[in-house]
Amino acid sequence: MREGSKTENIIGTVVSDDVSPSFEILRFKAKHGKYVTPGTLVAVSVSDNTFLVGRITSSHEYNPHESSDRVTVRDTMGIKPDYPGEDLSLTIHRRYQAEIIDEVKELNGVYEIYPPEKMPRSGSEVFVPPQKVITDVMGLEVDLEKSLNIGTLAVSIAEEEKIPVAIKREIIQRHVFIGGTTGGGKSYAAKVLAEEIHKQKIPIIFFDTQYEFAPLTEALDGTVLVPGRDYWIKLSSLTETELLDLIPAITHELHVSLLTKAFLTLKEGGPTGIPQTTISTTNKGDFDLNDLIETIERIGPDMAAKPNTVDMVVGRTRYYLSRYDFLGQEFNWQDVLKPNYVVDINCKGFGRQSLQFILASTLRELNELRKRGEIKPYVIFIDEAHLFVPQDESSPCKQIIRESVRIGRHHGICVVLITQSPMDIDKKAIRQCNTRLLFAIEPDQLQSIQGVKADATQEMIGRLPKAPVGTCILTGTYDTIKHAIPVKIRRMEHPEADAGKAPDIFSEVGV
Ligand SMILES: Nc1ncnc2c1ncn2[C@@H]1O[C@H](COP(=O)(O)OP(=O)(O)OP(=O)(O)O)[C@@H](O)[C@H]1O
Ligand SMILES: [Mg+2]
Repeated sequence: MREGSKTENIIGTVVSDDVSPSFEILRFKAKHGKYVTPGTLVAVSVSDNTFLVGRITSSHEYNPHESSDRVTVRDTMGIKPDYPGEDLSLTIHRRYQAEIIDEVKELNGVYEIYPPEKMPRSGSEVFVPPQKVITDVMGLEVDLEKSLNIGTLAVSIAEEEKIPVAIKREIIQRHVFIGGTTGGGKSYAAKVLAEEIHKQKIPIIFFDTQYEFAPLTEALDGTVLVPGRDYWIKLSSLTETELLDLIPAITHELHVSLLTKAFLTLKEGGPTGIPQTTISTTNKGDFDLNDLIETIERIGPDMAAKPNTVDMVVGRTRYYLSRYDFLGQEFNWQDVLKPNYVVDINCKGFGRQSLQFILASTLRELNELRKRGEIKPYVIFIDEAHLFVPQDESSPCKQIIRESVRIGRHHGICVVLITQSPMDIDKKAIRQCNTRLLFAIEPDQLQSIQGVKADATQEMIGRLPKAPVGTCILTGTYDTIKHAIPVKIRRMEHPEADAGKAPDIFSEVGV
């Protein structure tokens, strides 16, 4: 490394005490004014071309003038403190602790990263490593064209603040989790991520329960689809349990068996009921409400159902299913899931049960099409994800979302789960999201993110409840994000499309 650049970046000296230096930990006395925050990367040379990289975990200010004894004396005697400030003091100083995370060898300007093996020496100078080392150690990319540039490092050293957090674009195949309390900046970060994914031309679907992503969709020349108006889900995409849930008036055992048998017959054999092996269209298994009614009428007598029983099942099936206008003909996903295309499924105003059916069936249809290679790979953003993959209850969507996350990597199905309630979301699903953006969170929810904090230190996690809007900790598995990083999410490139702002309720009532 250039000697000059190192000297400019010296921020302290390694001290010797009961825990430092060791193979794992180094503590250093900071130079006046060179202060850092948890997560900042620092370096210490161990030979001419090798240095260790550490990450700040905690700090301590030493000031003997403010010991409780001295403060008591001053209080009792009514005198004001009178001692030189930190810049001139011979005693006051700040001490930082860093955990050693990597060893870096430099050869002709190229940095190679290894697990740490050497120990720093006390008295060594601590410096801020060059930008290239910081990006390499974190597992970030330098080429902004081929990465997802979501913001900058949110740490205190001026040099680091300029470092773009450009994540490998491949991370989307391993799914993303965005969690944190309301108003912390989750949806905003999701939109920034979407802007970046859009640049990489992967088709995007927003499952939008709040009309939050529709403005961005339009700004990116995409399409907003309203279920039941310009987009439908196939009856055949429901499971039999979902079908029965949609028709609550069918509960009698014979009625349930008749409906289920008709439904499964169609699922296995298509509208004609002919077994799948003998039909060869790609739409085998597709059918509509009329096919279901006809099949109920056809198989009713075989099941010893009396004509009035068949009529009742037919009547109730028709009555309930025709109320759900989002059930209908097959939607042509091939036409919209084209490279560079964005689709917003605008479900604002839909009840929770309908949302569940729409999302579950949509995912089922998309996964099937994708497995058959009939549509392009895609990324689906699911906000309020705790409603769809809840922790302790079952939901129509839970299994299909879990499956999408599990098989997604192999099939090019990428899922972004967003929740304001990490406590209530299925832990299995979020653990399989290998990149995570953890925003400000209520202290009582901190426990729920332990499983996804990766190597974020307790100090970093502990500071999360106070994280400013728009900053988060980015964590991942070693092949996505090497080390947990505090990140300041960048501004949207389409700020006019940020629909997340809360309305000004006071101006609305004339205050
Ligand atoms: N990185 C950022 N840069 C600039 N402004 C931001 C940023 N993040 C958030 N904001 C502002 O904060 C507002 C609230 O953020 P956002 O809608 O993302 O919160 P949220 O975490 O999704 O909340 P909720 O859980 O209630 O949906 C945004 O509309 C935007 O005005
Ligand atoms: Mg939101």
